[in-house]
Amino acid sequence: MKAALDYATQNADAFVDQLKDLLRIPSISTDSAYNADTRRAADWLADDFRKIGIPNVDVMETGGHPIVYAEIGSDPDKPTVLVYGHYDVQPPDPLELWDSPPFEPVEKDGIIYARGSCDDKGQAFMHVKAAEAYLETTGELPVNLKFMIEGEEESGSVNLVPFIEKHKELLKADVVLISDTSLFAPGVPSITYGLRGLAYVEVTLTGPARDLHSGVYGGGIENPVNALCKMIADLHDENHHVTVEGFYDAVRALSNEEREGFRALPFDEAAWLEEAGAPATKTEDGFSTLEGITARPTLDVNGIWGGYIGKGAKTVLPSQANAKISCRLVPDQTPGDITEKLRRHFEKHVPDTMTLDFKDLHGGHGAIVDTKAPAMKAAAEAMEAVFGQPPYFTREGGSIPVVADFKRLLGLDSVLMGFGLDSDAIHSPNEHFGIDRFHQGIEASIRFLDAYSRQ
Ligand code: BES
Ligand code: ZN
Repeated sequence: MKAALDYATQNADAFVDQLKDLLRIPSISTDSAYNADTRRAADWLADDFRKIGIPNVDVMETGGHPIVYAEIGSDPDKPTVLVYGHYDVQPPDPLELWDSPPFEPVEKDGIIYARGSCDDKGQAFMHVKAAEAYLETTGELPVNLKFMIEGEEESGSVNLVPFIEKHKELLKADVVLISDTSLFAPGVPSITYGLRGLAYVEVTLTGPARDLHSGVYGGGIENPVNALCKMIADLHDENHHVTVEGFYDAVRALSNEEREGFRALPFDEAAWLEEAGAPATKTEDGFSTLEGITARPTLDVNGIWGGYIGKGAKTVLPSQANAKISCRLVPDQTPGDITEKLRRHFEKHVPDTMTLDFKDLHGGHGAIVDTKAPAMKAAAEAMEAVFGQPPYFTREGGSIPVVADFKRLLGLDSVLMGFGLDSDAIHSPNEHFGIDRFHQGIEASIRFLDAYSRQ
């Protein structure tokens, strides 16, 4: 392992340069205008796997963007680790808020600015470079290693479950390793044991068949934008509880022990709030902010539109109003059930002056992983060696639906060893990733593979 660690140190700058090449490819999976670029990112990764001497590399077709698969070793005496990551990124919009173009990586004060630098190209690539460090020095890895880097995570991974079902044998492993989450705080290591799920829907209310003059018709025809705003406002009560019937039915209660664990975490709420740039926090009654953002379900409007939003004033009574709405879920809520409950809620409350169109966009299950698993110990050992202090075990509010899918379909636990920070602006303008954390991630990956092989 020492040789691999030295190799990583000696090649630190080269690794960053390579990452920048990957970051230059605008692999925006949700926008079909970028289909060719998205495939180019998959091919780029496959080429990098081949360059580091992995013979078994495949860009595997799905119904959508391909999955990059690579495999090193099949020694029956070694455990097998499956690394999962994603090479697709979120759209960079709004472009005008970026200080530098999103797909022209810029390095400033030890930080790389680019879309995907943290989520997840930078973090997935750490494991590729950890494998390289072993292959270029000892020539072999302490474990059998499989990589599965997908291209549709940011658009709902719609082809992923069929892919896993079809390739159960290929994906056989002892544990999954994922770096697509965050450190608890700068310099404070953590391992994530809980993630939230997601249920994402779009609703459209249609009133009159066309936009109308608001003077001629206003007062006689109900306005869909007014009606939708009222329906949305009623989705929370005064205690910030979600009012959708049955929304909390399946929510697994937090144990006292877990709540104590939350209180013991060094959560700097003031710093967190300042970073978010909001004047004050708002959490469901009865729960702390940290619980609210990681362990409680939520409902948020992601976008709302309708009527005239151009310059100046236009007196119009719009024909339609639309909203994208998503819920973050906790175990044991399921996206299918929550989506049906939302559908029933909207059907029940839509005024009879208009019609409702309700679309299920996508969803994913939340997850709680076993903190006592052997791989968790290996990850904790690796993180402690890198950061000089043992990691905290934390829950996070974002979603990586494949974690629950790996468990359900392959019986696999995941180790979530992330190096992002909440302040990295993932999904936002000026996304960035600290180069120190990129290198810490490579080191942790090298150390994890070694520690896990000894378990
Ligand atoms: N890397 C994130 C998930 C994440 C972010 C986990 C921060 C923990 C902390 C991932 O790429 C992501 O954004 N996932 C989507 C999933 C969705 C599209 C199904 C999300 O959470 O919105
Ligand atoms: Zn991600």
